[in-house]
Amino acid sequence: MNIEEVRMSLVNDLEKVNDLKELNDLKVEYLGKKGKITELNQMIKDVPNEEKKEFGQKVNEIRTMFNDIYEEKRQAFEAAILNEKLAKEAIDISLPSKKVKRGSKHPMTRITEEFEDLFVSMGYTVYEGPEIESDENCFQKLNLPKGHPARDAQDTFYLKDEYENFLLRSQTSTAQVRVMEENTEKGPIRVVCPGKVYRRDEDATHSHQFMQIEGLVIDENVSMADLKGTLELFCKKILGEKTKVRFRPSFFPFTEPSVEVDVTCFKCGGKGCPLCKQTGWIEVLGAGMVHPNVLEMSGYDSTKYQGFAFGTGMDRFAMFKYGIPDIRTIYGNDIRFIEQFDKKDGE
Ligand code: DAH
Repeated sequence: MNIEEVRMSLVNDLEKVNDLKELNDLKVEYLGKKGKITELNQMIKDVPNEEKKEFGQKVNEIRTMFNDIYEEKRQAFEAAILNEKLAKEAIDISLPSKKVKRGSKHPMTRITEEFEDLFVSMGYTVYEGPEIESDENCFQKLNLPKGHPARDAQDTFYLKDEYENFLLRSQTSTAQVRVMEENTEKGPIRVVCPGKVYRRDEDATHSHQFMQIEGLVIDENVSMADLKGTLELFCKKILGEKTKVRFRPSFFPFTEPSVEVDVTCFKCGGKGCPLCKQTGWIEVLGAGMVHPNVLEMSGYDSTKYQGFAFGTGMDRFAMFKYGIPDIRTIYGNDIRFIEQFDKKDGE
């Protein structure tokens, strides 16, 4: 083929190309090892010297021409492919969106926040201790030495081997010890400690894991009257103003004197019903004046300071307040259960 023939066929061939593949095939046909333009290039050396320059220029022109048309076509084909793809994958923004589901607070989160808000409004701070505790903090420093019979009521889960002195705390009272020890000035304390606790229990009203909140107040002139006033206020705020509160003498190793606190049954209002076993009262709290041994073991001078403490199961309050019959549903992780409390506090 001479130069003019190559030029003609090139224009013709490029005109007929339908897609990227055909275009690239043409590139091989013209510029490949045995391509038509390559062959012209090889012919240069055989052309007489006086024509060489002109011949060479023409070959170059043809190559540039091929490359220019090739590039133009390639861009056009690629744009077409992209446009087709965009058209196929177009997003129809007129479609109604999927409803975004709002989460809801777990009833235990709600009740914890309610307790915290109440106590914070009375000047308390909130402290959370760890769930894995030492035997020392959970029992010994609360006046429950090893072998003390009152430990039986709080059998829990124990760690093994080198951690055998550690356990899952059976009561938030352990946090009292931490708060007192961390207070290096050994001054006044006003704190509530909510959190999970563990025991070897499992039935409709007991779970191996449940939640308590502990209160501790230490100061120079704290009396049983302060404890009574605080607990009365707290029961009325959480369970309703009509709630009556009753104190019964009791025993806890870490308080002296100790009391158990009952409230009038919120179901029958105190008349007697199956929930309160016809007594009109429901036990909700343990409390008392902090035992001098407990103060001393955590570095407080019991001749200068007194304190009161209380502890209660928050799950029970949640069960009463929200009408939950089985404690196990609280920890069952069923979203249908959790969602039910969404509207209870007007959120
Ligand atoms: N820790 C006790 C329990 O789990 C409850 C309790 C009783 C806490 C008396 C106190 C208290 O702070 O003074 O059964």
